[in-house]
Parts: sequence; C-alpha cells; structure tokens
Amino acid sequence: MAGRRTPRPRLPSRLELREQVAELVAQQAAMSEVLRAIASSPHDLQPVFETILDSATRLCRVESAALRLSEEGGARRVAQRLAPDAAARWTGPPTLAPRGTFLGDLATRKTALHIPDIAQHESYLRGDPTVVAGVDLAGLRTQLSVPLLKDDHVIGYIGLARRRRQPFTDREIALVTDFARQATIALDITRRERELRKVQSELARANRVAILGQLAASIAHELRQPLTSLAANGDAGLNWLAMQPPNLGQAKRSFEAIVADSRRANSIVNGLMGLTKKKAPRKECLDINHAIMEVAALIQSEALKNGVSIDTRLAPRLPPLRGDRVQLQQVILNLTVNAIQAMSSLSGSKRELEISTERTENGVRVACRDTGPGLTPESLDRLFEPFYTTRPDGVGLGLSICRSIVQAHGGRLWATAAEPNGALFQFTIPADQGPGADQEP
Ligand SMILES: Nc1ncnc2c1ncn2[C@@H]1O[C@H](COP(=O)(O)OP(=O)(O)O)[C@@H](O)[C@H]1O
Ligand SMILES: [Mg+2]
Repeated sequence: MAGRRTPRPRLPSRLELREQVAELVAQQAAMSEVLRAIASSPHDLQPVFETILDSATRLCRVESAALRLSEEGGARRVAQRLAPDAAARWTGPPTLAPRGTFLGDLATRKTALHIPDIAQHESYLRGDPTVVAGVDLAGLRTQLSVPLLKDDHVIGYIGLARRRRQPFTDREIALVTDFARQATIALDITRRERELRKVQSELARANRVAILGQLAASIAHELRQPLTSLAANGDAGLNWLAMQPPNLGQAKRSFEAIVADSRRANSIVNGLMGLTKKKAPRKECLDINHAIMEVAALIQSEALKNGVSIDTRLAPRLPPLRGDRVQLQQVILNLTVNAIQAMSSLSGSKRELEISTERTENGVRVACRDTGPGLTPESLDRLFEPFYTTRPDGVGLGLSICRSIVQAHGGRLWATAAEPNGALFQFTIPADQGPGADQEP
C-alpha cells in the first residue's frame, strides 16, 4: 500500500515482539482463569481471590501479595501470597490492618498508590507497624496498591510488593487494575446471589408453612387416629394383664400395636417438623422414595377428606440423589396438594392421585398424575409463572417455587395432559455423581 512517509519509531526486535506477545497471552490466560473461577464458584469467593493473587504474583513478579476488604475498623486480609524466602522471616502483616495504619488506610484510598521505595516513604520513616516489619524482616521495597471500586466506594484493594527496587510498569498497573475489577465483579455477583438465595429460601419457607397451614386440620385428624388407637391398645393391654391368669400373648400383641401407633404418630410429627423448621438449604444424600412416603403420610387425611385415593408406585433401587430433602418434599407436597385441590373441584368423577418414581438414564423421574379437570392451553402456558392462579384462594407461587427448587437441583419440572384425563406433572433430578455414588456401568 502506498502511504505517506513519516519518520517511524524504532521497530521492536523479533525477540521483543515475541516477549510482548507471550506476556499478552499470559495476561489473557490469567484473566480467563479468573473468569472461570468466578463462573464456577458464584457462592464462594475464596477460589476467585486465590486465582487473582496467583496470577498477579506470577505476572508482576512480586514476593508479597494480598487482597484486603474494607470494613469499619480497617482492611481485612482475605487472601495472601508470600514468597518462601520472605515467609521464612515474616508471617505477613496483621489480618486486620486497623485504621490509622498505612495498610488500614489504603482501604479508603480511591486511586492506585505506587511507591518505588517504601523504605524512603513517610510511613516507614514514622515507624508504621504495618510497614516496618515488611521492610526490615522481609526486605520489601517497591509497593503497589490498587483499589477495588464499586460505585465510587472503596470496597478493598490488592496490594503487591517486591523485594527489589523496581517500579511497576504501566502495563503491570493496568493488569492489576483489571484484576481489581474482576474481584469487584465477583464480590458483587456473590452478594446478589446471596441476597437472592435468601429471599428465595424465605419465600419457599413461607409457601411451605402456608400449605401446611391449609393441611393443619387434616394433619391433626391424621394424628388423632394413632393417638386414639394408642389409648385403646393401652387399655386392652392392661385388661389382658389383669385377667387371672394374665393373657400374656394378647397383652404382647397390644403392646406391639402401641409401638406401631407411636411410630406412626412420630413419623407424622417428624415430617411436619422437618417441613416447618427454618434451616439453611443443604445438600445431603437422600432416598427420594422415603421422602415421598413421608409426604404421602401428611396428605393422607386431606386426600380422604376430598374423596381422593392415593396410589404410590415407587421404583426399587433408585440411584442415590444429593439434594435438600425438605425442598424436594416441598415440591412433592405442592404438586400433590394441587392435584387434590384440582380434583375436588370436580363433582362425581373418580379421584385418583398417583405418585410414581422411575429410574432414568442419569437420575430419577418423579411423576404426579391426577384425574382432575386437567390443564387448559392457557394454563399450560402460564402454570409456572409467579402469581398465576385460577383458584379463588390461590396465591400462584407454588409451581414457580417448585420449578426453581428443581432447577437448583439440576433437574427439570414440566406439565402435560394425562391420559385419558387429568394433569401429569413430572420432574427429574440427576443422580449423585459424587465419589462412592452408585453408578450404572
Ligand atoms: N393438578 C392440576 N390440575 C389442574 N390445574 C392445576 C394443577 N396444578 C396446578 N394447576 C393450575 O396451576 C395454577 C397455579 O398453581 P400454583 O402455582 O400451585 O398456585 P396456586 O395453587 O396458589 O393456585 C393453579 O391455580 C391451577 O390453575
Ligand atoms: Mg398450589
């Protein structure tokens, strides 16, 4: 191409070019590594901080690196790197660098601070405790700090230090600034994620308590049966013992019935307590069939009251699932109560609720089928929308909560028409892939 001749600066040598390209590639790789850490651990910041410090230490060739977050009293260290030769003589500055100290006050500084030789800096000369040890024991000289800025607020900083006196280049400062941005983004994502999860889990609990409230009368009724039977069997047992001679065989049978009744009452109370307790969601290994049976016990009386028969077809030898038992029970509770409510709106037809489980290629499918009025095309479209309800006393949150619970477990929840009539809700939960989990060959 023909162009005007302008004096050009000296062209970098091939070797210099190669070095620059290699540096850029390394920086790119470090950035994507941090992004990966953010994506793979949205709930846990520690791996993100560690990755940032690893990259910063390596790419800027420093002997000391720390990430500190601002708090009321100063700057709290959340991650640190110290080269072995520095660490041999010094454990690093305090975890909480208080306000009024050099490291503590960096937590309020909005711009980067680059000090080519900290041994000449006023903080060292006035004997600042967070600086002196680093210089005297670990021999740190050149230092750089870059703030983590969120909406013009300093939420922390990345601090780096070298043992040799060698100023940081513009490119290094730009790189650390990018790392600081990534750390800020990660902090923000985690905070939002936490808030969202808190709201979701409070909403889910409110929904659970509301549904159990609707079932309260039926559950009380369900409990009355074993309690009445306990008293009757107790009386009978006493009578068998009072006979001359006592009829020990019959007495034993009465006591066995007492044990069975109290187990039944206990399991209802346990199921109820489990669903109402305020517990942080957790992942545990669970038997989905067992979880379903507990829910079935809770809705038994409600079903009877509405003339609904419950049929459970639970597949044996399902793979183990990892999940929150209470939340999955809530899904089953919502689906079955919806089914009972839908069927009770019909008069005269047969009312059957079938809960079944089945092994799938990579987990378990749970199905809840009813013989109610089924789903209109409009409701099929909108069922899972929050606040969509066709019931006069409905809130319309049940199914949307169910869907987010199932999705949080890596599964899927959907609805179709059941044959010949009624609705069919199904959800899948992938099997636990963890070590020791039962896996198909
Ligand atoms: N088994 C079912 N059969 C027919 N319609 C159903 C069934 N389950 C849910 N629905 C429909 O979906 C709507 C939303 O359900 P849900 O989110 O649980 O809220 P709510 O129970 O408060 O109405 C219900 O109002 C109803 O119209
Ligand atoms: Mg509902």
